[in-house]
Amino acid sequence: MEKVNGRFGTSNTESPCIYLATSDQQGFDLADRLELQVRELSDAPKDWYLTCKNGKLTLDHPTEPSFQLSEQVIRSRIEDAFRSDLAQACGYYPGKTVLDCYGGWGIDGLILAAAGCNVSMTEIHPVLCVFARDLAYQFNLKMNVICDDVKQFLHASDDRFDTIYLDPMFPTHPTTAKPQRRMQILEQIAVPTQDLDTIFDLALRRANDRVVIKNRKNQRLLDQQADWKIKRRSVRFDVYLALNRPGFQE
Ligand SMILES: C[S@@+](CC[C@H](N)C(=O)[O-])C[C@H]1O[C@@H](n2cnc3c(N)ncnc32)[C@H](O)[C@@H]1O
Repeated sequence: MEKVNGRFGTSNTESPCIYLATSDQQGFDLADRLELQVRELSDAPKDWYLTCKNGKLTLDHPTEPSFQLSEQVIRSRIEDAFRSDLAQACGYYPGKTVLDCYGGWGIDGLILAAAGCNVSMTEIHPVLCVFARDLAYQFNLKMNVICDDVKQFLHASDDRFDTIYLDPMFPTHPTTAKPQRRMQILEQIAVPTQDLDTIFDLALRRANDRVVIKNRKNQRLLDQQADWKIKRRSVRFDVYLALNRPGFQE
């Protein structure tokens, strides 16, 4: 799968392709549900591509093992949504509006949706958007998946959100610990984060309540001090109160 280029970098209306054997009825059903263009499996590229295995959305590669998101892992995170550090950091109540700016597979967004929030996510990579939509369907959760560059989205719309959540791509980890396969694949296909300062400034002005950034524990992605933090073994959530909060004086 090519790194996303200019074609996908702006509002991307073209749906990605799924590569299927002509006899794969489950694959065709999946393609219909996710509105994917279908191509012959024999035409699959020599890189990561979408396919269907046992009725499930799959990333396949000519030389690497196939990959599917683990339903079990995601289910347990969703079941734990209310107790999660993410929900504590973002704050939740029924209908709280959240924009997840760097949506990825959609897992964090769905945890917040399971905690009762009304979640929209932006993700620049169309294939990751497909996974996010599929997960939302599987777990019967509502999430508005917007396949766009978050900067363009924030410039193009006037929408405000109670919480704006940022989980940018971290620079490759210098330690020897191997991340989970889901993270390894994300590192291969996802788009590196640019302009985080600009997005953060925009977010601070567009949030009604707070902006939350996920960092590695000892990493500082922004110069500005957070109002409060949740620190765990490997990650830290930095919480910044929004500039437009009632009673806030800049
Ligand atoms: C660390 S991942 C997010 C993982 C996510 N929280 C999850 O639960 O799966 C960061 C994501 O940001 C996406 N991204 C990078 N630049 C972006 C941009 N300008 N607009 C939208 N998404 C972007 C990457 O493609 C990547 O999928």
